[in-house]
Amino acid sequence: MRGEIRVAALLADRRLPTLEIRLLLAHALGHPRPAHAHAWLLAHDWDLVPAEARDRFELAVARRRAGEPIAYLIGHREFWGRDFLCTPAALIPRPETEHVVEAALERLPLGRHARVLDVGTGTGAIAITLALERPGLEVTAVDISEDALALAERNAHALGANGATGVRFLKSDWLAALAGEPLFDLIVSNPPYIAQGDPHLVEGDLRFEPWVALTDRADGLTAYRVLAQAVADHLAPGGHLIVEHGHDQGPAVQAIFAAARLVELEGRRDLAGLPRVTICRKAVDNWRP
Ligand SMILES: C[S@@+](CC[C@H](N)C(=O)[O-])C[C@H]1O[C@@H](n2cnc3c(N)ncnc32)[C@H](O)[C@@H]1O
Repeated sequence: MRGEIRVAALLADRRLPTLEIRLLLAHALGHPRPAHAHAWLLAHDWDLVPAEARDRFELAVARRRAGEPIAYLIGHREFWGRDFLCTPAALIPRPETEHVVEAALERLPLGRHARVLDVGTGTGAIAITLALERPGLEVTAVDISEDALALAERNAHALGANGATGVRFLKSDWLAALAGEPLFDLIVSNPPYIAQGDPHLVEGDLRFEPWVALTDRADGLTAYRVLAQAVADHLAPGGHLIVEHGHDQGPAVQAIFAAARLVELEGRRDLAGLPRVTICRKAVDNWRP
């Protein structure tokens, strides 16, 4: 039988970076809030660790050492200050995607009703954040993955963005399920943009994330071509399209959007200084001929 062990002893584990040990230990001990893991552990550092919690911790450390993302091991990731449930059904929300939210909030006029569409919603991070930051928006979120949509609905429920005034989730291959709907005032998307054969797909966290969330199995630009065409039928004249893309895809994405007669093209950089977001607008006189 193993001897008794206290929280403090496991906190001193050096098999992983300190922050990761804290998150995995707090989770194994049943503390559900990653944001407060450290304070909670310090307050409990003299507690004895139950055998089952220690087993959970050991298993999580081994999985992490084998490369599994922390967010899947603890089941959460913070996005725009809120905790989103994460499972291998969907991409783990990334900090750079907060720039899409930021640009969207800047362009949504305060206090005015607007219809917003999030294409490829994953965990629901963008759609739910916009709905919670601007109550009164009519937010629709689509994804081709039923598992991702189920997770996004759980997130909407947990964060209070569900119900009659919450986000509407729809299964759709890009915008196919939205035919005949009223136009949207804003379309946002962080689509799968990694090209087939890109070595990053078999490195780091990406090895554990769903392929449908990462790559179009082509040149990485499929979604931008689809969106550029879709604005004709789905975006209101004067409305904005805001997308995330790879750091080296800005010129290609802008060329696709310019060819679709989208205007006011603007790139935005992430905190690392890399161009990761393109914003553009459908001209007021841009009606389908
Ligand atoms: C890069 S992930 C983005 C997830 C989330 N919006 C975020 O920013 O964290 C791309 C999402 O697009 C979805 N997707 C891929 N192909 C699609 C398609 N043809 N139609 C709709 N959604 C699609 C994937 O299932 C995935 O959830």
